Amino acid sequence: MENNMKNDNIVVIGSTNTDMTIKSQHLPLPGETVLGGKFMMDPGGKGANQAVAAARLGGKVSFIGKVGDDMFGAQTLRQFKEEHINAEYLGVCQGVPSGVALINVDEKGENSISVAPGANFCLLSTDIDDASSKIDEAGIVLMQLEVPLDTIDYASQKAKDAGAYVILNPAPAPKEPLPDSLLSSLDLIIPNETEANIITGLPTDTDDQVKEAILAIVAKGVKSVIVTMGSRGAMAYQDGEFFSVPAFKVKALDTTGAGDTFCGALCVALAEGKSLREAIEFGCKASSIAVTRMGAMQAAPYRQELTS
Ligand code: RIB
Repeated sequence: MENNMKNDNIVVIGSTNTDMTIKSQHLPLPGETVLGGKFMMDPGGKGANQAVAAARLGGKVSFIGKVGDDMFGAQTLRQFKEEHINAEYLGVCQGVPSGVALINVDEKGENSISVAPGANFCLLSTDIDDASSKIDEAGIVLMQLEVPLDTIDYASQKAKDAGAYVILNPAPAPKEPLPDSLLSSLDLIIPNETEANIITGLPTDTDDQVKEAILAIVAKGVKSVIVTMGSRGAMAYQDGEFFSVPAFKVKALDTTGAGDTFCGALCVALAEGKSLREAIEFGCKASSIAVTRMGAMQAAPYRQELTS
């Protein structure tokens, strides 16, 4: 065991959406209709994608979140059962639609996404209290920002008090500064370079700039930082040292959810006692497979694909 995880239980607190994706030649400009494309509808949402990625790679995963009382919520629940994710604390919010994401993907695999959060925004601090026995059992708690920020702030402190290793993937990038109480509860934060730029207000175009942004985040009390940079790999900071991990070179078909697969995979490796560097390498490998396939959750690889 190269880290101090309490145990290997992974608890994901976050969003579930239904992704409606169109792959076409280019992303529509404002006012433009792009004709000709392929449509897919699948379960998604950053929280759900991360949970599924972790479960497919062998993680023991529980999920805390909210769906609406509609067919999309029911489909999410079925998907979690199929993926062997404990959904005891996936609540149903009456009279509110489940989250939906409208996604465009272009021929280079780049995307644009709009999310109607629906029931995801019904996840409150009281739901975190209701699930406190699950949080107490967690070795790792993994969160994102598609549910209310107040809830994540509250959950991070609960998780820290319970002795879990607390991770935030600050996606989508927050419009308001992240509270100091949240940042100081985190063992690890995993922004991409755009999110690191928004969180710190600092440029993140070069490796040196990314390092400066990381130091600004560390100054707020976060212990370790990983900035994911797509095809440029990842830059990490732990115990006063920087290190970078290169990306695998692949031809991307759809980059949607690549960061989610990375986060889920990283948690599995950490839960198995791997070092942060080994966990990042495992995350990069998993996400390099995911981007060669269409979809977000559907693209997440299974364990045997990483070992073969
Ligand atoms: O990170 C990809 C995800 O972002 C999609 O699955 C979509 O639901 C949005 O939440």
